Amino acid sequence: MSLSPQFLDELRARVTLSTLIGRSVKLVKAGREFKACCPFHNEKSPSFYVNDDKGFYHCFGCGAHGDAIRFLTEAKGLTFIDAVKELAQGAGMEVPAPDPRAAQRNEMQAGLHDVMAAAASWFQEQLGGIAGAEARAYLQRRGIDERLVKKFGIGFAPDSRGKLRTALKSFGDAKLIETGLLILVEDKEPYDRFRGRVMIPIQDQRGRVIAFGGRILDKGEPKYLNSPDTPLFDKGRTLFNIERASAASRKANRVIAVEGYMDVIALAKAGIDEAVAANGTALTEAQLERMWRMTEIPLLCFDGDKAGQKAAVRAAQRALPMIAPGRTLRFALLPGGQDPDDLVKSGGVRAVEQVLDEAISLDELLWRAEYEAQPLSTPEARAGLRKRLGDLAGSIQDRDVRELYQAEFRRRFDELFGSAQRRPFERNFQPFQPRQQRRPGQPWKPEPLPPSRAAHAVNKSGVNPMVTRAVMAGLLRFPALFSSHMEAIGQLQLGDERLDRLRAEAFEAGFSGGPLEKEGLETILAEAGLGAVVEELKATNALAFSFLRGNADPDRAMRDLSAAIEAMAARPLLDAALREATERLGMAADDAGLEEQRRLLAAREAADRALTDLALGEDGGGA
Ligand code: UTP
Ligand code: MN
Repeated sequence: MSLSPQFLDELRARVTLSTLIGRSVKLVKAGREFKACCPFHNEKSPSFYVNDDKGFYHCFGCGAHGDAIRFLTEAKGLTFIDAVKELAQGAGMEVPAPDPRAAQRNEMQAGLHDVMAAAASWFQEQLGGIAGAEARAYLQRRGIDERLVKKFGIGFAPDSRGKLRTALKSFGDAKLIETGLLILVEDKEPYDRFRGRVMIPIQDQRGRVIAFGGRILDKGEPKYLNSPDTPLFDKGRTLFNIERASAASRKANRVIAVEGYMDVIALAKAGIDEAVAANGTALTEAQLERMWRMTEIPLLCFDGDKAGQKAAVRAAQRALPMIAPGRTLRFALLPGGQDPDDLVKSGGVRAVEQVLDEAISLDELLWRAEYEAQPLSTPEARAGLRKRLGDLAGSIQDRDVRELYQAEFRRRFDELFGSAQRRPFERNFQPFQPRQQRRPGQPWKPEPLPPSRAAHAVNKSGVNPMVTRAVMAGLLRFPALFSSHMEAIGQLQLGDERLDRLRAEAFEAGFSGGPLEKEGLETILAEAGLGAVVEELKATNALAFSFLRGNADPDRAMRDLSAAIEAMAARPLLDAALREATERLGMAADDAGLEEQRRLLAAREAADRALTDLALGEDGGGA
């Protein structure tokens, strides 16, 4: 009996090797791997390693090496087919019925690999030869140098209906047709599929050529012609550049999915080898699964045009059912209409890294897409948005993650439209009024701390209270800023009555007395009954703000403190402006309005990022 490589790949993909081996061997986590004393030979210190990403175990002591199937046959003495059955049962897969022709097919496949290898080297020869002059010039124009041509095995298919067929005659038409290199229409003579195209080989995980993508020289339709699905090539399960990217991803600790062949090649030119591309189709579940086997959070970096944005959203939707704690996607958004290839050309690796650094999360992407999908002028439209968000979150299979998405989408929705229909300004913008107490009936609600990202300076509903406290503590150390940043400080929502009072006292002292200095202010505050708060604030050290560190350069500390205050003060204003813009959009949605809204969103993000950088002790002062 013989099973298809696709089935076995799928089976290996579904089995977590460490779980399987962990049933009989005590495994200890060691970095990205697990280690143990080898079950195949006697040893006292562990030299047996299990790598879930690769799906392999390896013993450095006795050389035992294999995958899940091998483990069951070697360690438990099962036959190959019993091992497969046991694994399939655990993975909820059906073992295909025995097929007497399968063995034959396997042999055939081996033959097909030879055909593809021969075709690839023939294409390469053509590129180097007389027929390849135009193609060489084309590649040169695109900045694809000799080294990249070699690295990717790029070739050229001359503009002829029969040259390849003649060159590979010894394999016979049948195999050339089966690999998609020839086209057979009814009973006519088969002819070469790829003509007048730069040929980019697509390889499987083991580096064997299984298909080609052919780019037309300059203009023409279709721009790219790909091999059809064949016994070797299952388009929906294949990622271009997977072999090199798997290796590189281990070093770089990331994987980037881009849209096109040329994007992958351009990134490689910029030194980024961990990029893959689907072959002109939307990312499939199988392709997502492949990427997740390489890293927990693959990055999707699609073209900055409408089509690219659509593709990103489609990928996001497809990924949702499959996400789990720690297993998700991030999305790098490219500036106006560019693709990664353009970006490498215009800004080099730095521009790429910056775009990748600023990637947004899956929930953020989905929210933006739904929110921008249509005008939200009517209650029906808003209800539609809420429903779509609910449906999206509902498609997540992992319960925990699903519930958190539901809560997150609800929170974002309420933030913009209000659960009760209060007006934005009343809700969020409360200019400071000295000494005025909160009116009865206006209870103060503490801002919830973000659950797992305490270090994040900005929580989803405004500024993290820890940051507010840190800034107040900073002000106690540098009280001069009370007068120089009076307006901004006055606008801060402190969210704590004692801090409100402390601010009011400091302002008053600044008004009536001379310049504020540290000890003097502390005395005044203590006399006002705020000594305990002052002590609490002085003990604040939860965040890495420079102005909390005793040994920081005072200039830097004051500069950072000013920046933090300004960013915090700007945020509610931006929030309010954003709500206003959104409301206006609701009444008359037009491009200018949408643009305004996007600009405000970007400004708010910039403020948030600045604050987060400061809170993490990173130098936010540069820009
Ligand atoms: P793009 O049109 O974005 O191509 O298609 P690109 O990578 O920017 O191409 P250049 O820079 O003009 O050479 C992205 C991907 O979609 C698939 C290919 O895989 C391509 O790399 N595609 C595109 C096709 O399969 N057929 C086509 O006709 C066009
Ligand atoms: Mn391009």
